[in-house]
Order: sequence, then C-alpha cells, then structure tokens
Amino acid sequence: MEKKSLFSDRIVKIGPDSGYDNYIMAIESSCDETACAIVKNGREVIANIVASQIKTHEKFGGVIPEIAAREHLDSINIVVQEAFDQSGLKPEDITAFAATVGPGLVGCLLVGLNAAKTLALVHDKPFIGVNHLNAHLCANYIETDLKPPFMALLVSGGHTQIIDVESYSKQTILGETIDDAVGEAYDKVARLIGLPYPGGPRLDKLAQEGNPAAFQLPEGKVDGYNFSFSGLKTAVLRLVKSFEGKELPVNDICASFQECVSSTLVKKLKKAVEQRGYKQVVIAGGVAANSEIRKKVFALENEGYRVNAPAMKYCTDNASMVASCAYFNTNTFDDIDVEVFSRV
Ligand code: KG4
Ligand code: ZN
Repeated sequence: MEKKSLFSDRIVKIGPDSGYDNYIMAIESSCDETACAIVKNGREVIANIVASQIKTHEKFGGVIPEIAAREHLDSINIVVQEAFDQSGLKPEDITAFAATVGPGLVGCLLVGLNAAKTLALVHDKPFIGVNHLNAHLCANYIETDLKPPFMALLVSGGHTQIIDVESYSKQTILGETIDDAVGEAYDKVARLIGLPYPGGPRLDKLAQEGNPAAFQLPEGKVDGYNFSFSGLKTAVLRLVKSFEGKELPVNDICASFQECVSSTLVKKLKKAVEQRGYKQVVIAGGVAANSEIRKKVFALENEGYRVNAPAMKYCTDNASMVASCAYFNTNTFDDIDVEVFSRV
C-alpha cells in the first residue's frame, strides 16, 4: 500500500508488497500502559518498551482516566527514546510512525496520537492510526509465520468477540458479548472476593490452586456466537454471600469461575471454526494470557487445528502489536486529521 509522508506528501510504500524492509515505530497509550515499539516487517520485534501504571492505579482499585493521561505525558518521551536506544535505529531509519487511535480513554489516546503524528511530521514520514482491537489480533503475527484465514477469539478488558479473519484486512465479527466483557467479568469477580486490581491475573493464579468442579456455575445462554457474563457474575456474588460468617473457599470459587468462562468461550470458538471450515484458530487480547483459556484453546491441536496465541507480553497492551497492525494494514487510518475515539 502507499501512504503519504506528513510533511512533503512524499509517497512511501508500506507492507508486505513494498519490496524493502519496513521498520515501523508504534505507540500504544489507550489505557494504563505507555508503550513504544519498533517492528521489522510486521513480525520481528526490534524494540519493545512498556511503562506500566499498575502501581499508580492499584490504590484506587481501577484506572483513573485523568491520572492515567498525566502519567502517559510523563512517560511518552522516555519510552520513545528507550525504543530508539534498544533498537540502535535512528528516526530516519523508520518507515512510518503509528499509534493507537481507539477504542480507549480519550485523554490517554491523545498523548500517543500526538507524539506519533509529531514524529511523523518532524521526520517527514507517514503516520498510521491503528484500531486497538485489530492490533490485539495482529499480536498473533509477531514472531510467527501465521497468515489468514483463521478464526479468532478476542478477549480483553473491554471486548469479547469471535472474529472471522479472512485476510489481513477483511475481518467479520461473528459474535460478541451482550453485557460484560470477559476481562471485565474477571476484574469484577476478583473485586467481589477481595483481590486487588488488576484482578484478572490474580484470579487466574488462585484458580490454578483450586478445584474447577467445586461449584456448578451457569453458562450464559445466548444464541449464536454471542456471549453473556452478567448472570455468571451474579451467581458468584450469591455464592460469596452464602459463605457469610464462614471462611470463603477462594481458590475453589476462582477455579469454578475460570472453568465456566473458559469452556463457554472455547466451545463457541470451536463451533465457529468448524462451521467456517478453517484449519487455524488464534486467541488475542489481555485475557488470552489466561492459563486455562490457553490450555483449552491449545487442546484444539489434538483435533487437527493449528493454534496460535501471542507470547504473554504481546497479549496485554503493548506497542509491537500496533506496529504489526500498521504494517499489515488491518483497517488503519492514515489521515493527518484522524482523531481519537473512545468506543467502537
Ligand atoms: O487487552 P487488555 O490489556 O486491555 C484492553 O484492551 O481492554 O486486557 C486487560 C484485561 C484486564 O481485564 C485483565 O484483568 C485481564 O485482561 N487479564 C487477565 C489475565 N491477564 C490479564 N484475565 C484473566 N487471566 C489472566 N491471566
Ligand atoms: Zn488492550
């Protein structure tokens, strides 16, 4: 594909058909991670820097948008410089600059967007705006030779989707959650049982020590490839209340919740891939770091599917996935006027 550089309107070829090595620098700042990365040809990570704000938001039990935006401002120049230092590359070696434009927290997104646009303008390179969800999917291209078509399960703090990825740029959402996202359900249930933010990974750890068959929890009954997790959340609340005055069997509750969530997700993913006739499935998004979801998805290898999941550090928010998405042109925005957006 061809993109215009921001300052001189010079045409720059980008992507697998460009005929030369591409080095894309990308910035991710949609929530509570300030990240900058440089990726060669969409797959080879040359630098990957992540400044996490977990320590800041821990005391509030969740992300405070205004505080997050200010912290992005403090970190942005540092992560960009560190990415250049780690890679040994200079701005003139970069083919294009990219940033997440949404969905996410507006004040946070603006920091990354304006940093990337400025870098593009000053160094006369193209700017590529990236959708955060598409970026999560593209984490599957990092350090692999995976090519579409495949069926994807995207599970993050804000989304739960089954996506038919027909080609790098053609994706169809087959189903999504009608209420809570999986990550949101994890974080809410974690809070219910007294775990600190961010609850998801902590709940996952405790679940591995518990009995997944200890409690029978309800799978949301929704048609097609859609999901519902609010009934499950309420069931856990009732279960927790039933132990009032007694010791809460935390590990067993975590394991039973995790069993219910992971089997619901993977059942629908399997149905979708069978129906479409693809031979490959992938998982993506922060919750793709979950041990039980990974285990159940990888079990599909026994049924003849090629299964791919990003390495843990590319599941949660990072900028390498944004660079990969910009390279493969998965529904990107390349206008200087592109603005941030909070929801899809
Ligand atoms: O994709 P992500 O970094 O943010 C969004 O784009 O929304 O995902 C963050 C979510 C949080 O809800 C976090 O609790 C959850 O991913 N998460 C996990 C695990 N690691 C992160 N949930 C369950 N098990 C994990 N191991
Ligand atoms: Zn994310």
